[in-house]
Amino acid sequence: TGTEPDLDPAGGVRGATRAAIAAPHLRTDRWWLSPALTAAGLLAFVVYSTWRAFANADYYAAPYVSPFYSPCLAENCVPMKGGPNWEILGGWWGLSPALLILIFPLGFRLTCYYYRKAYYRGFWASPPACAVAEPHRKYSGETRFPLILQNVHRYFFYAAVPVAGILTYDTVLAFRDEHYAWGHMGLGTVVMVVNIGLIWAYTLSCHSCRHIVGGKLKHFSKHPVRYRLWQWVGKLNDRHMQLAWVSLLSVAGADFYVYLVASGAIEDLRFF
Ligand code: FES
Repeated sequence: TGTEPDLDPAGGVRGATRAAIAAPHLRTDRWWLSPALTAAGLLAFVVYSTWRAFANADYYAAPYVSPFYSPCLAENCVPMKGGPNWEILGGWWGLSPALLILIFPLGFRLTCYYYRKAYYRGFWASPPACAVAEPHRKYSGETRFPLILQNVHRYFFYAAVPVAGILTYDTVLAFRDEHYAWGHMGLGTVVMVVNIGLIWAYTLSCHSCRHIVGGKLKHFSKHPVRYRLWQWVGKLNDRHMQLAWVSLLSVAGADFYVYLVASGAIEDLRFF
C-alpha cells in the first residue's frame, strides 16, 4: 500500500521481527519530564562534585570534614587531628586528595542498578521511558564491553561499606569541639549525622547487599537470622531510588556546609 513503516533488517524497534507500528510511541502523558529532570539533577551533581573534588581547599573546618575528602590518603591533606588523615600514599601525590577516594563512591553509584536506569534514560534515551522506542538501531543491553563492566557493582559495594564506616567515624568525631574536647554539638554535627544515616540507608538498600544477605539460600527456615536481615534490607531496597536521590543531595549538602564554614562564609551554629 506504500504506507507500511520501514522495516530495518538490522534490528532495533524497527526490526523485521517487531510489531510494525509507525508511531514512535502511543503515550499521551508527559513521559519526557522524568528523564529530563533526572538528567538535570545528575548533571547538577556532576558539575558541583567536579568543582569540589578538584578544589583541594575548604574541606576541613574542625571538627567537620567533607565526605568528599575522607579518608585523606596523601600527605598534602590539611591536618585533621584524630581525623581520617591516613597518609599511606606518601608525598608523591600532588593533586587533590579527593580524587584518590572518590573513585569508590563514584564507582558504586555509577554501577548502581537504579543510577544505570536513570542515566540510560536521562542521557542516552535508551530507552527514554517505558513504551517509548529508543532512537538507537541496535540494542545489546549490558552484554558487551564496556557496559558488561557494570557487573563489578558488587565489588564497589564491598568498597562502599568501609568508606561508609570511615564517614561514620568522622561523624563520631564531629561531637568534639575545635579543641578536640568531647561534648560538642553544632549544626555541622547534625548535618553529618543525617548524611551518614542516609548514606548507610542507601548502601544497605543496594540490590547486591540484598543478594549477599539473603541470596543462594534454599530454605529461609534454616537461616532465620539471614531471613530477618533479608527482610530488613528488602524494606530499604523498596526505597532504593528515593534513597539514591536523598543521599546524593545530603552528601553534596554536607560537603557544601563544610565548605561554607571552612571558607569563612558562615560560622557553625553551635548548640552546646
Ligand atoms: Fe544501587 Fe547497589 S543497586 S547501590
